[in-house]
Amino acid sequence: MRGKIKMQNYFRICVMLLLCLVPNILGKAVLVPGKTDSGDVEKKQINAQSHILQNQNLNDVEENDMNQGNANKKNSDTLRVEPMQVEEPLKKLDKEDLNPPDHLDAVRMEQDGHLNKDWRKEVFLGEHEDFDQSTREEQDQKLKMVFYRVDTDKDAHISYTEMETWIQSKVKEHFDEAAEENNRIFKALDTNKDGFVSWTEYCIQFLVAHGYDQKTSEKYMEDYEIIEVNDEVRDHMVKNKFRWSEADEDPMDNQLNLSEFKAYRHPEQSFRMLDNMVRDILESLDANHDSILTEQEFIALPPGEVESEWRESDKLWQDERRKEFQNTIDIDKNGKVTKDELKQYVDPLNINHSKTEAKNLVDIADTDHDEKLSIDEVMENRDIFLGSKMMDTGKSFHDEF
Ligand SMILES: *[C@@H]1O[C@H](CO)[C@@H](O)[C@H](O)[C@H]1NC(C)=O
Ligand SMILES: *[C@@H]1O[C@H](CO)[C@@H](O)[C@H](O)[C@H]1NC(C)=O
Repeated sequence: MRGKIKMQNYFRICVMLLLCLVPNILGKAVLVPGKTDSGDVEKKQINAQSHILQNQNLNDVEENDMNQGNANKKNSDTLRVEPMQVEEPLKKLDKEDLNPPDHLDAVRMEQDGHLNKDWRKEVFLGEHEDFDQSTREEQDQKLKMVFYRVDTDKDAHISYTEMETWIQSKVKEHFDEAAEENNRIFKALDTNKDGFVSWTEYCIQFLVAHGYDQKTSEKYMEDYEIIEVNDEVRDHMVKNKFRWSEADEDPMDNQLNLSEFKAYRHPEQSFRMLDNMVRDILESLDANHDSILTEQEFIALPPGEVESEWRESDKLWQDERRKEFQNTIDIDKNGKVTKDELKQYVDPLNINHSKTEAKNLVDIADTDHDEKLSIDEVMENRDIFLGSKMMDTGKSFHDEF
């Protein structure tokens, strides 16, 4: 059963327990290993149903994120103009600010093991929400603008290289945006402005963002008996604590500076944390614990019967994952995915992604086979570039033969 705590997790728990010897560092949840059940916390089973529900939630979240994003931008703008407002930034942090995000822009997989459905849009359009919410005419207008920006040598065509450079610049844009948001959150958390956020400081704000009042939250961090926090909050704190410790570089002082905090929230931007993230994804999918993912493991649905209305979506979900496994993740096509292959897949800076994706995007719309795209070719295939139509890359190469 998944409840079994595996060696690595066990080791991590031991480390956690050691940290607990320093008082006030860790929630009592971790002090009670029976209750920790890191299996449940860490291993979110992939479930096609929850996946769909999640997608709906994700849309909600994305909307929020967007609003939040806009609000954030406004905030940081105001902050820059009127430093007086830095005095009281704490109230502006909400749950989303405090929990490390599950979805990472420009990363091909969510941290819970789901495929990132928006990856293509993220690396070609960048801020694709702008497009999603526009009218058809506005979308066409914006797409044309993108075309002329990608065409850096102004020969009225997009070449493979131009497309590749463009995709890399979009990935960088996502990174910069994440860093900016990270700065904002860090600043708000670092109340005494010493350049560090301690685990205690962080947890107090975490609890406040979850509706506990400041005093109670402070007391809780001194004495975990004082209140019962709800299970969800506690589970998050346990999970976050693992990650916090992993982001905490030498000297491991249980406080994070700005770059450690970025590694905490954005593992894709830290080589070390990316490695941990890949380890966690692998563990959560690797049913027989042999550190290798087979196609079966990768497309496995959780055990148990589902209502008939879900069967079709389960099947689609599995088909999509199978295709991704065969075409992209399993690089050497031997039916097995190693941690290294998974890492190459997940790493947003892997230049193979921009290369392959540039070639895919150009080839799929290159009607006259001149290995570059004209504005007409792009506009005729607008749905592919806007991500509103699935692109069957496997098919695109064979269609014409
Ligand atoms: C944060 O701490 C790490 C490890 O001590 C160090 O390498 C890094 O330069 C520090 N970053 C900042 C922004 O101080
Ligand atoms: C890119 O792909 C090539 C060929 O498959 C491979 O040898 C190389 O290691 C890959 N590079 C990265 C950074 O994954």
